[in-house]
Amino acid sequence: MVQQGPKREKLIYSIFFREWIFRFSFVLKNLPDLIDTGYYPLFLSATQNKKRMKQVLFVCLGNICRSPSAEAIFNSLIEKSGLEKELQCDSAGILNVHAREPADYRMDQFAQKRGYHLTSISRPVDPHRDFDRFDYIIGMDRENIRDLQAMARNKNDRKKIFRMTDFCMNHKTESVPDPYFGGDAGFELVLDVLEDACAGLMRKFQK
Ligand code: 4NP
Repeated sequence: MVQQGPKREKLIYSIFFREWIFRFSFVLKNLPDLIDTGYYPLFLSATQNKKRMKQVLFVCLGNICRSPSAEAIFNSLIEKSGLEKELQCDSAGILNVHAREPADYRMDQFAQKRGYHLTSISRPVDPHRDFDRFDYIIGMDRENIRDLQAMARNKNDRKKIFRMTDFCMNHKTESVPDPYFGGDAGFELVLDVLEDACAGLMRKFQK
């Protein structure tokens, strides 16, 4: 039966009210992304200097050698560039076998010689949390990229996956080689390639 009189009016008001609550909560929830993409012009002028912080996640197999080093090197570049309010990074591993362990002591020794402190504690990639939170998810080698692609939930997640060596400016290599089962030279090479790639990556944010 169609409602009549004040009852009908009440119903219409209530539908309108709900609709506006829904719209308002949608805008509030998506505000950072709307502002970030410039899709919400009303806020554009007020937010030009308030862009959402960019988040970078470095990923390797165990999260005890390469990605903790990338994190430390990139953090030192963030500090040197004064971009602490615009850029943040973290690291994670494909495996969880080293979860809650600090960085490999050999990697740490070689990194310390160059002035980097490996402070991260190993953790596995958490596909839901990490693909939601991070803007750039950067793997160290082909296998890392393949495994990340398999974890991605959709096209938007896949767009966030990059290969570390694609940011290199001097080294012509397709991977940051796994140093875990090798000798000293492997750890030095990791740091050489990562310093190059991190500098290239940082340039993208300084433009
Ligand atoms: P990462 O090195 O991926 O650079 O942390 C490795 C660490 C541990 C293992 C392999 C690679 N592992 O097989 O335990």
